[in-house]
Amino acid sequence: MKCLEAARLAPSACNSQPWHFIVIDDTELKKRICDKIFSGIYAMNKFAKEAPVLIAVVSEKGRFLSGLGGQVRDTRYFLVDLGIACEHLVLQAQELGIGSCWMGWFDEKALKKEIRIPVNKKIDIVISLGYPAEDKFVLKNRKTLGKISSFNCYQSA
Ligand SMILES: Cc1cc2nc3c(=O)[nH]c(=O)nc-3n(C[C@H](O)[C@H](O)[C@H](O)COP(=O)(O)O)c2cc1C
Repeated sequence: MKCLEAARLAPSACNSQPWHFIVIDDTELKKRICDKIFSGIYAMNKFAKEAPVLIAVVSEKGRFLSGLGGQVRDTRYFLVDLGIACEHLVLQAQELGIGSCWMGWFDEKALKKEIRIPVNKKIDIVISLGYPAEDKFVLKNRKTLGKISSFNCYQSA
């Protein structure tokens, strides 16, 4: 609930809050879902079967103004909004000692069927949550600050 609350407080374009989080914590349901959505070409994410909780992040219709502004600017504000809310959620999880993984690679059609989401809705992201089995931290490479930033004008690294 703390993780959901952190997501709930996230900022969004025109305060649209274009999200719905479905917590999948029923063991049987979660297992069935994992077997279906992380198989075949999506098998790289089958590690998520070990996680006790999945959160399916559904995009909801935003405010009219946000959609209109997005069209004028050719910017998908709702995806920016979802990204911020999901990151709030996983940062709160981390604060509580809960590990997480963002996943954009899963069988969306199968997931929609299992949790009765209308076909016209979109699930862009699934997040796994669980207490890490090991106290191991895999440090991923990041580009240097020099490569990703510049001052006063654009400079590609
Ligand atoms: C939008 C998005 C989609 C992602 N999809 C996946 C995924 O399907 N499977 C996976 O293992 N990690 C996925 N990740 C996690 C990234 O691979 C990971 O954040 C990146 O490699 C950096 O690692 P770190 O977060 O551990 O520092 C995704 C992250 C984001 C933001």
